[in-house]
Amino acid sequence: MCGIIGYVGYENAVPIILEGLKKLEYRGYDSAGIAVCGRDGFDVVKQKGRLDALEARLEAAPLSGHMGIGHTRWATHGEPSDANSHPHVGSRSKIAVVHNGIIENYQRLKARLEQKGIRFASQTDSEVVAQLAETCYDGDIMETVVKAVGRLEGSYALGIMCLDRPDTLIAVKKDNPLIIGVAAHGLFIASDVPAVLRHTNLVYYLNDGEIAVLNKDGARFYSLDREPLQKHPETVTWSLDSAEKGGYPHFMLKEIMEQPKVLRDTVQSAVSGEAKAAADSLDPARFDKIVMTACGSAYNAGVAARYVFEKLCRVPVEVELASEFRYKDAIIGEKTLVILISQSGETADTIAAMREANAKGAVTLSIVNAVGSTVAKETAHTIYTLAGPEIAVATTKAFSAQLALLYMLAISFAYKLGRLSETERDALTDEMKALPGKAEALLGRTDEIQHCAAGCIAYKSIFFIGRNVDYAIALEGSLKLKEISYIHSEAYAGGELKHGTISLIEDNTLVVALSNCERLAPKIMSNAEQVASRGARVLFVGSCAPAEMGDRMSVIRLPAAHELFSPSLSVVALQLFSYYVAANKGLDIDKPRNLAKSVTVE
Ligand code: AGP
Repeated sequence: MCGIIGYVGYENAVPIILEGLKKLEYRGYDSAGIAVCGRDGFDVVKQKGRLDALEARLEAAPLSGHMGIGHTRWATHGEPSDANSHPHVGSRSKIAVVHNGIIENYQRLKARLEQKGIRFASQTDSEVVAQLAETCYDGDIMETVVKAVGRLEGSYALGIMCLDRPDTLIAVKKDNPLIIGVAAHGLFIASDVPAVLRHTNLVYYLNDGEIAVLNKDGARFYSLDREPLQKHPETVTWSLDSAEKGGYPHFMLKEIMEQPKVLRDTVQSAVSGEAKAAADSLDPARFDKIVMTACGSAYNAGVAARYVFEKLCRVPVEVELASEFRYKDAIIGEKTLVILISQSGETADTIAAMREANAKGAVTLSIVNAVGSTVAKETAHTIYTLAGPEIAVATTKAFSAQLALLYMLAISFAYKLGRLSETERDALTDEMKALPGKAEALLGRTDEIQHCAAGCIAYKSIFFIGRNVDYAIALEGSLKLKEISYIHSEAYAGGELKHGTISLIEDNTLVVALSNCERLAPKIMSNAEQVASRGARVLFVGSCAPAEMGDRMSVIRLPAAHELFSPSLSVVALQLFSYYVAANKGLDIDKPRNLAKSVTVE
């Protein structure tokens, strides 16, 4: 996810664009840049690093112009660097572009353009848009845009400037947000409302397949067939702060709500995009063991994935806390695949575990969200999750993306190992493709979960139990609750509770019982009855929760999903549950006490 902004009007575009980018930094912050239409062509300043570094550079060497575009980046293709920063300008310096999204066919387009002699300055998919547009350009910028986007596959929100039209800013989108702001002194394009709120609350929401053509005096809209369109502006009533969170009260809730899109993007990438290419570079037959190592929620993702890999691939999988793995003198070697899972790619223990695995000659694969991070750079193979920047300290969408990628990798490995037929592989892939829609349906039930959570804020301790993949999500649900609500919690394998901890169950203890595995449902039910008979209240979460239950039992019933992939849905319910418990307690949900988004120290 990146932030784009453009301005055309009566004022100097540069300070307006910089200020707008600051309001979009939550969408990406590894590099930033700006381009304006100057007297002798495009003036472009762009670089790796946070926005204040760009601002300092512009203070030292100011730019000015009445039309410009700006970009703050969350790298998806090509690591953070000056060259990979946006805006991207075509080789003939005729067209400048800022892009938010993922061009899935960029490699094919790039190869064709290179055959025509185009030389690329970056590794990005976005530069392909600029070079392609220039190749299509024949003096009619609208026709150029129609031709260029007609050849793009994937998602995009584009801001486009053409040097021959220094008074006209063009915007077009597919699957990524783009708004048009109308102020007295000029017009804006932007990824999101916060970028323009300081100047106007009158916005148009661009739809897929619509082109916006802006100049100082107004905005015109066209279809991709170049038919004029009538659009009506809306008045935004949000405050600036709530606007940065997309109208949500916290980034965590916004990121929970982004999960269907993240799942869709991640599965798509694993089916036909970069993730598939990365997975294809691995031959599972080389390995006699897989070790997954990570910290916190990333570790919990590994616990869930272990069940899937072992069930589908019949390869032994160990899951290790990175802080333990790094010092245990692990028994690994060249026939071991060590998978490092990390949202930030900068967790100290995970980095150390990775270096231990590399030193012992294991093949290392990282599942990382932050492009160009240390873990991504130092592993032999990397598959990026496509969750975009995650601002809330408590991870949600990045965790879901890790799960989805690991599931798709397990399916890919199982097929290559001959453990799945093509039909079986495709059937499981279809199950994965169905998850975003099911997650969407579940996210429509926030009132139900909020009501359930409201009754739980007084508990001093809450237990989570589950079996098989549900045990992994019991771990994650317990961690989510602890880190944002400060309520003590423990997670147990359902069959383990009676080996000691059940002594802690007393009148009115709350036990959250996950039940998404048909064949294990009776077992987790008996665990629930064991604790209920000792006074506990039981909250079932799952698609296999019992139809009939005791009066001390309640349920959040989930959509049915393939047992192995059900954690992608049950975790959403527990994220919402924890969120609403913490919200009811009025806590600082996005920045919980004592925590950091990335633990870069031991
Ligand atoms: C999860 O909500 C926590 N923020 C924490 O457990 C986190 O998952 C852990 O620190 C690992 O971080 P990483 O994924 O960036 O390596």
